[in-house]
Amino acid sequence: MITTTTMERNGRRVYLNEVATRDGFQAEGAFVPTQEKIALINALSRVGFAKIEVTAFVSPRAIPALSDAEIVLREIERDSRVRYTALVPNVRGAEGAIEARADELNLVMSASESHNLSNLRMTREQSFDALREVARLAREAGVALNVSLSCAFGCPMEGDVSEQTVLHWSQRFVEELQVRGVTLCDTTGMAYPPQVEALTRAFAARWPSTELALHFHNTRGMGLANVLAGIDGGATQFDASLGGIGGCPYAPGASGNVCNEDIVHALEWIGHDTGIDLDAVLAATKRLPALLGHDTPSQLAKAGRRLDLHARPSDFDAIAERARARQA
Ligand code: COA
Ligand code: ZN
Repeated sequence: MITTTTMERNGRRVYLNEVATRDGFQAEGAFVPTQEKIALINALSRVGFAKIEVTAFVSPRAIPALSDAEIVLREIERDSRVRYTALVPNVRGAEGAIEARADELNLVMSASESHNLSNLRMTREQSFDALREVARLAREAGVALNVSLSCAFGCPMEGDVSEQTVLHWSQRFVEELQVRGVTLCDTTGMAYPPQVEALTRAFAARWPSTELALHFHNTRGMGLANVLAGIDGGATQFDASLGGIGGCPYAPGASGNVCNEDIVHALEWIGHDTGIDLDAVLAATKRLPALLGHDTPSQLAKAGRRLDLHARPSDFDAIAERARARQA
């Protein structure tokens, strides 16, 4: 049955941001060698992503897996169609990311006080003050600004985070720091579809010219449903990770982002245009198990696309002949 909702969904242009080399690698025990990171990002640059979150300029003590941020960002090959962004929590990180030629600084702060203290060791007000200075540096350097608001759909330590709180911090970033974009992050998979649609609509109604992206983790299996609810609410930009790897080490119970190839495959069948070369994404995702030392949550890496067909059983002809003989 074709409902108004499915008809409205059809034919949208949806932009996907790839976050595996930041959100994905930060959660891994193994250190992915620097040259392997660079080679993977170079492959992802040719796939059709709008944005690639290359790395994070954070304390190497907090996130040892990304201690090579400067080399990686400096040495990747750039494609002019891709915006290369890096996560930045403070002035020190901003200086490093600007020096290594980030196209965009992705400021990070949590909508929840408990998660901000656990993850960044600052109150939200202290984070915001540090980020005000980061915004000044970015403006001087002509580098774009985005902010990722963690725990925008719930905090694993505090529970629900109110829409009012999320809009309050969004307002401070949009109106005081004049960020170009805001990413509302569901850090531990607490978001659910009606909440996503309502928050997306509320944000878009207040700041129609601010870029809004949604960032979901599939921790409770609601990732794709939340992406679809976001599209219904008017969102066109989504973060996702190759292989569905990812998670914040400072958020209890965190697990992987929505899986990029699974989302692309689903959105294309629903009728949206992602502009992504799915074959190339699948080729890239096959590299991950060797780099990480384990399998990934990707469904498509295991099952293939819905029309990747399999051979019939070897005794198929004999089975068919017997069945047809019985029928005759
Ligand atoms: N890049 C690299 N090193 C940094 C840094 C940055 N942006 N900011 C601080 N450091 C270093 C300091 O030099 C110091 O090093 P030292 O111990 O060798 O002297 C150490 O990190 C601690 O610095 P300090 O300023 O005392 O920070 P802190 O201990 O209060 O930690 C953060 C604050 C924000 C730097 C840290 O909590 C952090 O990097 N968090 C990021 C967490 C993250 O990425 N989570 C996942 C993404 S949501
Ligand atoms: Zn995340």
